Amino acid sequence: MSNAQRQVVLVRETGGVEALELVSEAVPEPGPGEAQVKHTAIGLNFIDTYFRTGLYKAPSLPFTPGAEGAGIVTALGAGVTGLEVGDRVAYAGASLGAYSDVRVVAADRLVPLPDDVSDDAAAAILLKGLTAEYLLRRTYRVRGGETILVHAGAGGVGSLLCQWGKHLGARVIATVGSEAKARLARQYGASEIILYRKESVPQRVRDLTDGAGVPVVYDSVGQDTFMDSLDCLSPRGMMVSFGQSSGKVPPLDIGVLSQKGSLFLTRPTLATYTRDRAELLESSQALFAAMRDGAVRHHIGQRYRLSEVRQAHRDLEARKTFGSSILIP
Ligand SMILES: NC(=O)c1ccc[n+]([C@@H]2O[C@H](COP(=O)([O-])OP(=O)(O)OC[C@H]3O[C@@H](n4cnc5c(N)ncnc54)[C@H](OP(=O)(O)O)[C@@H]3O)[C@@H](O)[C@H]2O)c1
Repeated sequence: MSNAQRQVVLVRETGGVEALELVSEAVPEPGPGEAQVKHTAIGLNFIDTYFRTGLYKAPSLPFTPGAEGAGIVTALGAGVTGLEVGDRVAYAGASLGAYSDVRVVAADRLVPLPDDVSDDAAAAILLKGLTAEYLLRRTYRVRGGETILVHAGAGGVGSLLCQWGKHLGARVIATVGSEAKARLARQYGASEIILYRKESVPQRVRDLTDGAGVPVVYDSVGQDTFMDSLDCLSPRGMMVSFGQSSGKVPPLDIGVLSQKGSLFLTRPTLATYTRDRAELLESSQALFAAMRDGAVRHHIGQRYRLSEVRQAHRDLEARKTFGSSILIP
């Protein structure tokens, strides 16, 4: 065991941003099947706030938040194959613990980084990009010529759904919370924008689709938008409820799905769509290819030092962020 120290964010008790505490502690050594990774950049995701507040339960207390990072392999545990010390890697949706300068992580969650993907880009895009990949290509298969609805179209995942959706040939209607975000969502490829705090989303969607509605809604906002989203769908449309930035969706009487036109409803997670390593690598390859041919571009709207993590959470929760945010250790 070395005496090396690391900087790590701990949550001892769930709560507000003050629950995030930066401390020094011994660098952990990798066990069997694990790798030690020295982070160069850490991805910030809305889900991190759910663990901090206790909305999602961390496996134990205290815990270190964060599910996404990029860096260099600095040590390997027993039995790890296919990785070398010095490899550039990134991970998304692994066990919590990314808010640190060095961590150990399950080696089979690590994705080798190609030379043309920078560490910052990987930390900014991997979790959100893998999410966009499975939502657009596997949860519902978006086809050219379709019109799709994306909520929070200027956000991290939303901005990627707009870009990739357009690249697949879809016409993207995006909802956003402000004029500034409207301009951004247009740049990301949305051809129609709805300011959902001011306008009726179902009404605007009906107007924009000659009354037909859309075959799929990607809804990450949850409580505030869920019922309206159902009213935007065409018969047999697919409601993809993949997040809850405004709060949890209340329990639902499934009869509503029949009344509104034999609708499908799914609540997917990245974990299930990258369950085995082959799926994880295939999804990553698809994302890197989409980045390479310009279909999706990462946009780092905010960079924070690891020591500024409280401000980063404050900004994310106050809807102040644009695109992705990263923490630099
Ligand atoms: N299921 C999955 O596999 C999966 C994977 C990744 C992320 N997610 C979910 O997707 C969502 C987006 O994640 P992200 O990291 O990309 O975050 P984000 O979209 O960049 O940030 C959240 C955005 O939601 C909008 N919003 C609407 N009502 C809000 C409210 N009451 N409070 C705060 N924000 C509100 C805001 O945009 P406006 O100002 O435009 O309204 C805000 O910027 C999260 O709910 C996350 O948990 C799910």
